[in-house]
Amino acid sequence: MNILVTGANGQLGSEMRIVSKGSKDKYIFTDVVDIPGVETTKLDITNLEAIRTIVAENEVKAIVNCAAYTNVDKAEDDKDFAELLNAKAAENLALAMKEVGGVLVHISTDYVFGGNAYNTPCTEDAAENPTGVYGLTKLHGEQAIKAVGGQYIIIRTAWLYSEFGKNFVKTMLNLTSTKPQLKVVFDQVGTPTYALDLANVIFTIIEGRKYEGNTGIYHFSNEGVCSWFDFTKMIAEYAGNTQCDIQPCHSDEFPSKVIRPSYSVLDKSKIKSTFNLSIPYWTDSLKLCIKNLKK
Ligand SMILES: NC(=O)c1ccc[n+]([C@@H]2O[C@H](COP(=O)([O-])OP(=O)(O)OC[C@H]3O[C@@H](n4cnc5c(N)ncnc54)[C@H](OP(=O)(O)O)[C@@H]3O)[C@@H](O)[C@H]2O)c1
Repeated sequence: MNILVTGANGQLGSEMRIVSKGSKDKYIFTDVVDIPGVETTKLDITNLEAIRTIVAENEVKAIVNCAAYTNVDKAEDDKDFAELLNAKAAENLALAMKEVGGVLVHISTDYVFGGNAYNTPCTEDAAENPTGVYGLTKLHGEQAIKAVGGQYIIIRTAWLYSEFGKNFVKTMLNLTSTKPQLKVVFDQVGTPTYALDLANVIFTIIEGRKYEGNTGIYHFSNEGVCSWFDFTKMIAEYAGNTQCDIQPCHSDEFPSKVIRPSYSVLDKSKIKSTFNLSIPYWTDSLKLCIKNLKK
């Protein structure tokens, strides 16, 4: 089977390149721009005809959509483009797959929640209530894919990091190695997700054709729960940056354009039971990512 990966130069897309090496399937890695030294076919997913052409030319039967407008704060001032990339482009991919009887694996976010106060892990059927443009446009993407009516797997994830691109882990590795003191919020909790673990799950679903008969929305993160403060403490510890004094603080010390969910824990029961998964604990995955970063 031929599988097309979009946004292949981002965090998750780069991990998809790693996990799919040696697959019996053929993967085609695409992104809107080239990166020197990385083999990438150019594809702008806001262009439906361009998607149709590449799908037809390569007889693509599955798309993994790793592309998105992911800058949560910037999206507040860039609503139209965020909607185009997170909603319309997702619909384009769903349409292109429906036309050839293929499947779309699409990634969404815990930011589709946030407006409702909750303090137990959130299941897939909880009422969505985004607090900002990013979450709203990602929710529109989910709704558009469902409305197209083809085969799809939507995976909502949270707190994604990897050894590629910009992310919290890399920022904190830098800050805890250069600053004597750091304050990090302890009143927002969630679960970090190593993009390599998510890529492995996507690969398992595709390689085993496990998407068949399982169209729907699923939640995925690593196991466990922590605050951004706890997360930072472990990043510093695993990196050996013990000289930095890390202190907890409240979110109001770091005003932001978007209200971030104070409790953002996803319930993963459905994805675990449907695909028979065992998910790594967040500190084990963090340790592995830092080791991979040092390679
Ligand atoms: N990051 C998180 O914490 C987080 C949390 C929850 C869910 N998610 C979701 O997880 C998925 C993967 O996130 P990520 O962090 O891996 O994203 P990322 O690193 O920002 O990568 C996204 C990729 O998409 C590319 N792209 C932008 N516009 C495009 C277009 N028109 N056509 C094709 N590609 C385009 C980007 O290129 P440029 O860099 O050149 O723009 C980038 O290479 C997304 O759906 C995101 O919403 C992320």
